[in-house]
Amino acid sequence: MSNDGPLQGISLTLAGVGKMGFALLEGWLKAGLSPSATTLIDPYPADAVRALCADRGISLNPPVAKGVAADVLVLAIKPQMLDHVAEVAARTGPDTLVISILAGKTMADVAARFPQARALVRAMPNTPAAVGRGITGFYANDAVTPAQKALAEALLAATGSVVALAQENDVDAVTAVSGSGPAYVFLLAECLAGAGVALGLERDVAEQLARATVQGAGELMYQNPATSPAQLRINVTSPGGTTAAALDVLMGREGLQDLLTAAVRAAHRRARALSG
Ligand SMILES: NC(=O)c1ccc[n+]([C@@H]2O[C@H](COP(=O)([O-])OP(=O)(O)OC[C@H]3O[C@@H](n4cnc5c(N)ncnc54)[C@H](OP(=O)(O)O)[C@@H]3O)[C@@H](O)[C@H]2O)c1
Repeated sequence: MSNDGPLQGISLTLAGVGKMGFALLEGWLKAGLSPSATTLIDPYPADAVRALCADRGISLNPPVAKGVAADVLVLAIKPQMLDHVAEVAARTGPDTLVISILAGKTMADVAARFPQARALVRAMPNTPAAVGRGITGFYANDAVTPAQKALAEALLAATGSVVALAQENDVDAVTAVSGSGPAYVFLLAECLAGAGVALGLERDVAEQLARATVQGAGELMYQNPATSPAQLRINVTSPGGTTAAALDVLMGREGLQDLLTAAVRAAHRRARALSG
């Protein structure tokens, strides 16, 4: 565990310790966040959360101490619960950095519930955060100081990669590309397995082939960050070969690019509608 990282010495309150909140918390503790400076708020904490708190000395649902503002408040509740976290607002002050990962909730929505806080970050993670391989896009408002922005990046980087966004609207595009993206990749594995079954393979064999192929191809991209996906594709495509025959279909008219563009646009429309 690091003793001098950017998370050292900060006090943090996490509201909502579900799937995403727990993944973030585990990452922060590994990155050096002090358990004794961490407070969790969750009305029905899971057994794993209770056990972690007991084991590491993390404060769980303490009585609200008026005037005690955390350096950072992270909101990881369900979006529809934002109107029901009034007691959490007591943990914010003018110098508190509020980081929201709530899908569809704008900076204005969050600012309305936390009027004392000025520095706001809106972030959109994705589910591979649970295995430390997520990607989070985030936007920071003008009140966020450079030090707070670096702190937000360090906190969000605890579950994977981080990308800073130039404008708040970009969060909706991030939602459509990477937030919802893991489901597109799972569907690719499903469809590849289905195509294998259509060729006569047993379903379990086809699913094993498809799953391992998506995992392995993802790992190759991960281990070759300087090589573009297009180049990786070219590297495994011999002219006139079997891969080329399939790519002629996938890259033809109304092929995968058109389909994915239409799908991501639909997700984007939905994200914008949810953001009001
Ligand atoms: N999962 C993803 O891939 C993903 C991606 C991007 C963004 N997000 C965002 O991350 C947030 C959390 O998602 P999740 O998948 O982690 O959901 P989740 O597993 O349902 O976690 C939400 C947690 O907040 C708790 N909670 C409910 N009301 C609360 C309150 N008033 N005060 C404090 N805690 C409260 C819930 O408790 P109960 O279970 O008892 O209600 C639950 O433990 C959502 O806003 C979502 O939009 C998630």
